Amino acid sequence: MKQQKVIISQNIRKALDEAVAACSHDRLLVLVDETTLKACWPLVCQCPSMHDAQLITIGCTDTHKTLDTLSFVWSEMQRLGATRHSLMVNLGGGMVTDLGGFAASTFKRGIAYINIPTTLLSMVDASVGGKTGINFGGLKNEIGVFNNACCVILDTEFLHTMDRENILSGYAEMLKHGLISTKERWSQLVCFAPVTSHITSEMVADNVSVKQHIVTEDPTEHGIRKALNLGHTAGHAFESLALERQPILHGYAVAYGLIVELYLCCVKTGFPTDIMRQTVAFIKENYGRMAITCDDYPRLIELMHHDKKNVGNTINFTLLGHVGDIRIDQTATEDEIKEALDFYREC
Ligand code: GLY
Repeated sequence: MKQQKVIISQNIRKALDEAVAACSHDRLLVLVDETTLKACWPLVCQCPSMHDAQLITIGCTDTHKTLDTLSFVWSEMQRLGATRHSLMVNLGGGMVTDLGGFAASTFKRGIAYINIPTTLLSMVDASVGGKTGINFGGLKNEIGVFNNACCVILDTEFLHTMDRENILSGYAEMLKHGLISTKERWSQLVCFAPVTSHITSEMVADNVSVKQHIVTEDPTEHGIRKALNLGHTAGHAFESLALERQPILHGYAVAYGLIVELYLCCVKTGFPTDIMRQTVAFIKENYGRMAITCDDYPRLIELMHHDKKNVGNTINFTLLGHVGDIRIDQTATEDEIKEALDFYREC
């Protein structure tokens, strides 16, 4: 897979002009959703490189991450005369960068694309590492390809358009990066109050370097990239259960998943209890709790069985022996998972 350049920008207009100039192209397409059209496009539309850009606008939120939307984007690319030498710029959160990346990767067997993530979640996670795709058949990210953007431009100016809940949602992935990397990074993250104006480009740059390092080593998730799944086996189950009741943001589900999985780390791989307790206290204070009862356990476990990371009938987890001591391909029994869910409810 081609290398992906990650640019930490202090001036989005200059960074975008330079990135577009570095990708030779005939036509330029910009994918936005209804929110980023209003909140983010005005910040870049005056760039000289954007004068000839043709906009494609899709609906916002994950409900639009569908084959119908993808088909609409392909049709628009065709209608606007895109060729295999055209360039796509995806301006938005994870839904736009995932779907736009997939549209670009498949149109005429693949055209170049640039990601400009506008949410914290997409800055530190979704936009980096070449995962593209759509939801299908009721399953998230069921259809897609690994294909890196030519470059990803990270600029915290966009974070001013976000509310506290969405900042917290992205912050959960930052916390995960702390846990899978170093005690120093973890410690800074749990001592920080994640308020929009406090998230600096230095923090984003430092945090995304954890993911960059991992995806460079294992672009297609056969090994160490599975470290990025910490908190996600239980997290996706919480997220899917919430979808049947009252949807929650992805990062909140990951935060709750981290509580369950850090407990499993303590029981199964000797993770230090004090670090687990400090992380749980941080999560409780900032993310509250999604209420569940024992009656939800069978459904949560069933949802964990559906996780695409599983092999056969076992439920697969990424666990830690310590901060940064990554143990991929771990399993847990249903009884161990129930005990971890008891801990989640009682802590
Ligand atoms: N979001 C996890 C990954 O990119 O592998």
